[in-house]
Amino acid sequence: MSLKSEEINRAMAVERTLGIIKPDAVEGQRIGAVVSAIEGSGLRIAALKMVQLTRAQSEGFYYVHRDRPFFGSLVAFMSRGPIVVMVIEGDDAIARYRTLMGATDPAKASEGTLRKRFAKNIEENAVHGSDGPDTARFEIGYFFAGSELPQD
Ligand code: CMP
Repeated sequence: MSLKSEEINRAMAVERTLGIIKPDAVEGQRIGAVVSAIEGSGLRIAALKMVQLTRAQSEGFYYVHRDRPFFGSLVAFMSRGPIVVMVIEGDDAIARYRTLMGATDPAKASEGTLRKRFAKNIEENAVHGSDGPDTARFEIGYFFAGSELPQD
């Protein structure tokens, strides 16, 4: 049975996800290209700002990875220069933005994805995106106060 378009719309959830343009991509002057790819895909930027993380803030953001061997290096990388944090919004935004980013390791990322285009290696991989609804809520709250977000 085929779904009518309004039924399809109802089945897809409007979501928000947290996107980051990482220090390597900011240094490489890729901010415009990343924002353009996001908007070109039909997703909306609901909030955006440039910040530089302290080491402690970088540790707090990546706390779930604290036991991984790359944690110290990741924390140092993410706090070495400015980043752009964005709230990205749209139907099924979490999965769609992850598809746009491509695989964590650029060597495994599909042609045309942000990481294939801009990432240097598995750590300096240009962009970040939340991996699920609970993570998105935590990560958006990590960077944005409620007053900085458009009201639903
Ligand atoms: P991100 O999607 O932000 O989530 C965790 C980050 O850790 C990841 O992107 C990479 O920047 C980094 N990372 C993941 N796996 C590795 C690895 N094997 N070696 C180094 N860094 C990694």
